Amino acid sequence: MPAPTLRTQVGIIGAGPAGLLLGQVLARAGIESVVIEAQSRAYVESRVRAGLMEHDACQQMRDAGVGERMDREGLVHHGIVLRFGGTSHRIPLTDLAGGRHVTVYGQQEVVKDLIAARLADGLPLFFDAQAHAIGAIDTARPTVGFHHDGADHVLECDIIAGADGFHGISRDAMPADMMRVFERVYPFAWLGILAEAPPVSHELVYASHDRGFALASMRSPKITRLYLQCAPDENLADWPDTRIWDELDTRLAGKLTRGPILQRGITPLRSFVAEPMRAGRLFLLGDAAHIVPPTGAKGLNLAFADVHVLSAALVAFFRTGTTSGLDSYSETALRRVWKAERFSWWMTTLLHRFDAYSPFERRMQQAELDYLTTSRAGMTTIAENYVGLPLL
Ligand code: APR
Ligand code: PHB
Repeated sequence: MPAPTLRTQVGIIGAGPAGLLLGQVLARAGIESVVIEAQSRAYVESRVRAGLMEHDACQQMRDAGVGERMDREGLVHHGIVLRFGGTSHRIPLTDLAGGRHVTVYGQQEVVKDLIAARLADGLPLFFDAQAHAIGAIDTARPTVGFHHDGADHVLECDIIAGADGFHGISRDAMPADMMRVFERVYPFAWLGILAEAPPVSHELVYASHDRGFALASMRSPKITRLYLQCAPDENLADWPDTRIWDELDTRLAGKLTRGPILQRGITPLRSFVAEPMRAGRLFLLGDAAHIVPPTGAKGLNLAFADVHVLSAALVAFFRTGTTSGLDSYSETALRRVWKAERFSWWMTTLLHRFDAYSPFERRMQQAELDYLTTSRAGMTTIAENYVGLPLL
């Protein structure tokens, strides 16, 4: 027997940062939602990803009533270090970007806080629930078909929020003839580790080295997060612990304190944008619509910025019936998306080793780094983008 149809105002596919923050903001505005997540709670809470929050992203957490642990445990940073040609150059973010700063707080901690808040409020969130069909998006009652607990269910909503990441089903549910996709795949990947060892420095270090890029980040005073540029088809089995640490020592020009590696993985680097971000009653947000290479630390922040625009449009729609915010959602969100895409692509191009570069192109990279770190205008460009452009 088919399971009875569920009904809600906003059907949210995906319990990543985008879907969860949207559900939280809507709940506080008195709007009902149901969140459907393909994976288990343990899986989404332990998935290690980036962990750098822009100034305004932190404020979004506070405004949504979930900023308490972030404010207690997050590490506030007022600068970053760019390292090249054997020298370190500090970019004083806060001085150059109007007093704004960034906060290191792991993405899975953001996810944990949002899940805890939703469950504490008794709001519907289905784990191990795979959405497999999106229908009737051109009607006032679009539907999401999903599988859960051995049965097929249908969620009928007023609006569907496709927050199901890059590999979800929402983007494919957009009419193919209206979509345009823009993509760049980089000829390298990042090998990332989480290790039980103190961070290299109290600020993040982005290193451009002849052997490739390296990044030293952190999660706490005892846990470090480190990345190395590697080949796109790199095999983790070829990277025993000592090789990873030796390579980090070389590229970061230091003797890093070593410790047990708690997690390791390889992430391909990609820029991707799907336009538009809306078709009928289906709205895409976060990685479902766009991907950035992690060099600018923008993935989570972009997802949050989409939530800012979409939630305001939804609140207006459910309160007054106005559709103007919904109608302009895609255009408004994409303007900011493209600026973050540009910054992420630019930081990636600036700092990585491109094997195909000619000696002239390498000199251009070095000259640009030299210019950026010796000019107040250059450093300001980095700072204002890094702490985050305005949400609107
Ligand atoms: N049905 C239900 N859930 C799904 C489906 C599906 N068919 N397909 C995917 N999902 C879930 C995934 O399991 C995942 O938990 O959607 C969620 C999408 O979450 P994220 O991938 O974290 O995407 P988003 O919320 O947009 O957050 C963007 O995540 O990938 C990082 O660097 C990225 O920081 C950025 C952030
Ligand atoms: C991280 O801490 O995981 C991190 C920080 C900055 C980046 C990317 C990742 O640019």
